[in-house]
Amino acid sequence: MGATRLIATVVLSLLVFLSGSSATQKKKTQGLPRQPCNRMVFYFHDILYNGQNAENATSAIVGAPAWGNRTILAGQNHFGNMVVFDDPITWDNDLHSNHVGRAQGFYLYDRKDYFTAWLGFSAFFNSTQHRGTITFAGADPLNKTRDISVIGGTGDFFMARGIATLMTDAVEGEVYFRLRVDTKLFVLVTIDHPAFSLL
Ligand SMILES: *[C@@H]1O[C@H](CO)[C@@H](O)[C@H](O)[C@H]1NC(C)=O
Ligand SMILES: *[C@@H]1O[C@H](CO)[C@@H](O)[C@H](O)[C@H]1NC(C)=O
Ligand SMILES: *[C@@H]1O[C@H](CO)[C@@H](O)[C@H](O)[C@H]1NC(C)=O
Ligand SMILES: *[C@@H]1O[C@H](CO)[C@@H](O)[C@H](O)[C@H]1NC(C)=O
Repeated sequence: MGATRLIATVVLSLLVFLSGSSATQKKKTQGLPRQPCNRMVFYFHDILYNGQNAENATSAIVGAPAWGNRTILAGQNHFGNMVVFDDPITWDNDLHSNHVGRAQGFYLYDRKDYFTAWLGFSAFFNSTQHRGTITFAGADPLNKTRDISVIGGTGDFFMARGIATLMTDAVEGEVYFRLRVDTKLFVLVTIDHPAFSLL
């Protein structure tokens, strides 16, 4: 009987302790830090296949609405088109600079009355400086700047979380565009590279 009471007391005080500590824990970790820990800016270059540039194209229309085709983006703000891409990444805005990684994923146009897209891709890095992926996903309203989520990372970017501010840096007809990706991570990643700064 005494032993049972002792165990009950221990369990009870443990519960009180745990609930107390989880309450303080909650207070301490409420929300993410307001300031990012890392920043990294890169560019990627998309050359869309248009029936004539098979040699250089880095992306292709893989889905089109019934009133369109897979060679030319459909009318009505390209609604219903889906494009798959494997685009080179550079640190600066020059397509002919060193390709330091690949942006691999897709975008789809998801509004008829307004020009907007949904974008999902992984930035795949495989160099002596860093190896790993950062995965981005989110609505891309194609405004001057827009934020998408950084939803994860692997390798050197293990557990990456944050946001990326996208800016369309150049557009050439419906064949070429260049995106500037300003990646801000709220989980500390330590990589020794000038393009990747600790904040
Ligand atoms: C592919 O790119 C190269 C170098 O930029 C250029 O010389 C060539 O004309 C391009 N080819 C096509 C089919 O666009
Ligand atoms: C694809 O659609 C465009 C107009 O949206 C049209 O100009 C072109 O001829 C079509 N191409 C094919 C192969 O059907
Ligand atoms: C990454 O780079 C290494 C060394 O250059 C190479 O051996 C390996 O095949 C590359 N991996 C991929 C998936 O490209
Ligand atoms: C995006 O641009 C549109 C049209 O220019 C504007 O109406 C809208 O408020 C902008 N959205 C954001 C989030 O800035």
